[in-house]
Amino acid sequence: MSNTKVKRRTILDLQAMKSSGEKIAVLTAYDFPFARIMDQAGIDIILVGDSAGSVVAGYDTTLPVTMEEMLYHTRAVVRGVERALVVADMPFLSYQVDLSEARRNAGLLIKEGGAQAVKLEGGENVAETIRAIVAMDVPVVGHIGLTPQSIHRMGGYRVQGREDAQAKQLLADAVAVTEAGAFAVVLEGIPADLAKQITAAVAIPTIGIGAGVDCDGQVLVIHDILGLCEKYSPKFVKRFADVSGTIRQGIDDYISEVKGGSFPGPEHSF
Ligand code: KIV
Repeated sequence: MSNTKVKRRTILDLQAMKSSGEKIAVLTAYDFPFARIMDQAGIDIILVGDSAGSVVAGYDTTLPVTMEEMLYHTRAVVRGVERALVVADMPFLSYQVDLSEARRNAGLLIKEGGAQAVKLEGGENVAETIRAIVAMDVPVVGHIGLTPQSIHRMGGYRVQGREDAQAKQLLADAVAVTEAGAFAVVLEGIPADLAKQITAAVAIPTIGIGAGVDCDGQVLVIHDILGLCEKYSPKFVKRFADVSGTIRQGIDDYISEVKGGSFPGPEHSF
């Protein structure tokens, strides 16, 4: 057995990657086996997204996700990870009510969840919250543009920042999040040109999802890239594998062997 300790990615590494132009690869995970596979594959950041609400729990939005659920998923992911930086999403209503609740919940994701950083949605409107969390030495990732927790304000999951006024606001949001102390910012569902402009304007790494190729890194939901979600697939998702088909085949084979009496065979019996 080797005693070599794997060096974990830190927020300093990410800043260095932005400076050197090395792209940052990010995926979501919600459990131990997926986290372990992507960590061994060399992913830079694992985001325990509140997208768990949609892709694991089957809700239509991320709004019902609770702190207890995020803590559960975060602990499971952390147990599978040695190298990647683990970022845990702050679910709806865990940081919006007041600063002390926001600080406590961010702290819980670090202390009980075992994450190294938290992510929360919003721009200028959450700058004070980011500042308060960063002040207790918890690293924060911002998230602007198409912010799923704001679905009812946005009137659906629509691209943000197409009009001038909205684009200006998003630029101001990125600056506000940076000045508040976030170490990275997710840009979701915004025009590629605007994402390029924001990436050039802020010193921290930008992580795009539906924001074009000029961001400092990219993030996607693991279930989407593996074809595990048959419901709705946004334009920005690329399917890198069809795992649903493989799972379905395995289950079909299992059912037919059980029904046909060929499983378990002698090699699986005592
Ligand atoms: O919850 C999530 O998975 C996210 C990413 C898609 C950015 O916030």
